[in-house]
Amino acid sequence: MQRLYPPSGQDTYDGHPPEAEDLGTPVGLAAAYAYPPRAADPYLRANMVASLDGAALADGTSAPLSSDADMRVFGVLRALADVILVGAETVRREGYRPARARADFAARRAAEGRPPAPAIAVLTRRLDLDFTAPLFTRAQTPTLVLTGAAAPAKDLAAAREAGAEVVIAGVGDGVDPVRAVRELSARGHVRLLHEGGPRVLAQFAAAGVLDELCLTVSPLLTGGDAPRIMNGPAVPGPDAAGPARFVPLSILEEDGYLFTRYVRA
Ligand SMILES: NC(=O)c1ccc[n+]([C@@H]2O[C@H](COP(=O)([O-])OP(=O)(O)OC[C@H]3O[C@@H](n4cnc5c(N)ncnc54)[C@H](OP(=O)(O)O)[C@@H]3O)[C@@H](O)[C@H]2O)c1
Repeated sequence: MQRLYPPSGQDTYDGHPPEAEDLGTPVGLAAAYAYPPRAADPYLRANMVASLDGAALADGTSAPLSSDADMRVFGVLRALADVILVGAETVRREGYRPARARADFAARRAAEGRPPAPAIAVLTRRLDLDFTAPLFTRAQTPTLVLTGAAAPAKDLAAAREAGAEVVIAGVGDGVDPVRAVRELSARGHVRLLHEGGPRVLAQFAAAGVLDELCLTVSPLLTGGDAPRIMNGPAVPGPDAAGPARFVPLSILEEDGYLFTRYVRA
């Protein structure tokens, strides 16, 4: 893994990378992806992968677009997070399991008073989830189910029985992204990581709560009609007009894959 941007010694608007960094170790990589210094305010980062021509999936999942290095970044971003938000369709299609505790980060997380592994928070309206799956029954840090106030009581009861914590974050059947961030933050989750998919991520970006996008650009062309990494409402910029601008914080590279990190301008 090598750093392409900023080059050694050159600042970004957010500071500059250390002169000596070891991107080859999980802890060194984690330093390159540190959340802003802890504040009471929540910070929402998204991590997504896209093909060179912008597809967010190939053959039904994101896996064909990924690489060993992408999975290392994915793991490090998880290790840094308090909670991982994910849409129910991604959970169903990718067979989501609980995030695992990583030995490399155990001491740091314990010193910060955080559980060994981040919680997974599933966004769903229909609660059409397999509550007998390990995501619910084997989670060391209980999985959260984020839904709206209109969710059927019997499905909420099934989620709770399976060990999930239900978080109501919307007045109707859906989750309001602003309220979701507020509810998670009220539970002590301030380092938020969004893993998609495109339909839920678009709603969070459009609601103005996305602080950072970590986008892996895969050197693969897929063609076809797959969605982009956001598939939903337009994202307003300043004064509610035009697209929202993000600025690059860093770009790393390995094996032709670019690991970009952009923050809201
Ligand atoms: N390229 C990448 O980095 C990446 C990352 C993640 C996923 N993916 C891929 O993306 C695909 C899935 O993405 P997707 O966009 O179709 O689905 P998604 O965003 O993962 O999930 C959509 C589901 O989320 C729930 N949902 C959406 N809006 C909601 C709201 N406001 N409140 C509550 N629940 C809400 C609904 O679940 P219910 O149906 O249960 O109500 C909806 O069906 C998969 O193929 C996956 O592999 C790619």
